[in-house]
Amino acid sequence: MSKKIAVLGSTGSIGRNALRVIEALGSDYQLIAITGHKNTKLLAEQAAKFKPKYVAVTDESGLNELKGLLAGTGSKILAGASAMQEIASLEEADIVLAAVVGAAGLGAVLAAAKAGKTIAIANKEPLVIAGKLLMETARKHKATILPVDSEHCAIFQCLCAGKSDEVGKLILTASGGPFRKASRKDIENATINDALAHPTWNMGPKITIDSATMMNKALEVIEAHWLFGVPAEKIDVLIHPESIVHSLVEFIDGSVIAQMGTPDMCHPIQYALTWPDRKKGITNHLKLDELGKLTFEKPNLEIFKALKLGFEVAKTDGSSPVVFNAANEAAVKLFLEGKIKFVQITELIEQCLSTHNVKQDLTLEELLEIDKWARKQVIDTVKSAL
Ligand SMILES: NC(=O)c1ccc[n+]([C@@H]2O[C@H](COP(=O)([O-])OP(=O)(O)OC[C@H]3O[C@@H](n4cnc5c(N)ncnc54)[C@H](OP(=O)(O)O)[C@@H]3O)[C@@H](O)[C@H]2O)c1
Repeated sequence: MSKKIAVLGSTGSIGRNALRVIEALGSDYQLIAITGHKNTKLLAEQAAKFKPKYVAVTDESGLNELKGLLAGTGSKILAGASAMQEIASLEEADIVLAAVVGAAGLGAVLAAAKAGKTIAIANKEPLVIAGKLLMETARKHKATILPVDSEHCAIFQCLCAGKSDEVGKLILTASGGPFRKASRKDIENATINDALAHPTWNMGPKITIDSATMMNKALEVIEAHWLFGVPAEKIDVLIHPESIVHSLVEFIDGSVIAQMGTPDMCHPIQYALTWPDRKKGITNHLKLDELGKLTFEKPNLEIFKALKLGFEVAKTDGSSPVVFNAANEAAVKLFLEGKIKFVQITELIEQCLSTHNVKQDLTLEELLEIDKWARKQVIDTVKSAL
């Protein structure tokens, strides 16, 4: 019996790599559903190639175009955000790969958890904003959440080397992004193209900007806290510019287990799809002798203030990760539209956090209200400064 896979966000960077992985895995793996938001043309090309049973476009304005492009193919076409939730809970799906960007993926990830699916999760923002709710829902409905983020996939593999009460700390590695060696002045003058020029990873625009501010690592600290049930105090970040050691676990006896590989998201995607087995894949193998040396350094929390804020937010929990994430999504959007400077992204997040009174134990509705408030707060702050 082949494993049936639904890919949410198939038109994105992770989604496109996931389709390459599924194709290479052969007939034991079958793509049965795909979703995209605006890129109907690519969605239709993917549908023509893989012939999934379901194709969904979440931005409903693309429905008519998609219907035209898919006429006669036999795929069932769905539209709207609710369509993504429908696909996430399809009876016939064995694995749901969550590869949408941002909080927009939350409803579908929760739907997959409620349906008891195996969720291969790349979409970190739902874990950041609703980690407690999502992990509890998954436990209640016997869903399995497998990390796709390369750092978390690494930690997941390293944790196999010991028992949970033997874990000393988790060490997340970070490439340092394009501004690792930049001065404060360079960063103040950074353009959109400077911030999008990631030295080692080729990713979608939002996560690439998050890597430049190191907000991505901050989100990953919170993600690791929920995925592995480890307090923020036991999570460290190390800059590792070569992006070969994807993360490490230090055990209480001082032994450190690392997971290494070439910087290629096809590996963690494949690992989540084939887990608990390993298969030959399309990722190039490491040639350590050609690399020569691997380097590690402490992050500068004064330059990369988003990471410092991330540790504070992870310790506070409750509504602060919701504000942290929503303010970032709104600020990154404004930056990519050329409306604010790069340094303002972190400043706006910090301002938004400082005006918020933290609440604990939120319902989904309360959480979504706070998300909305934080986005509006960022937009209003920028408007009022014009
Ligand atoms: N890229 C990486 O290497 C990488 C590594 C680790 C973790 N991640 C995480 O994986 C997630 C995806 O990242 P990515 O780089 O693949 O992003 P991306 O290239 O921007 O792709 C995002 C996907 O989400 C869809 N989408 C956008 N807005 C949506 C909405 N409002 N509702 C539903 N779908 C929507 C897009 O559809 P259209 O393109 O059709 O508009 C696209 O399919 C993020 O959470 C990121 O942090 C990514």
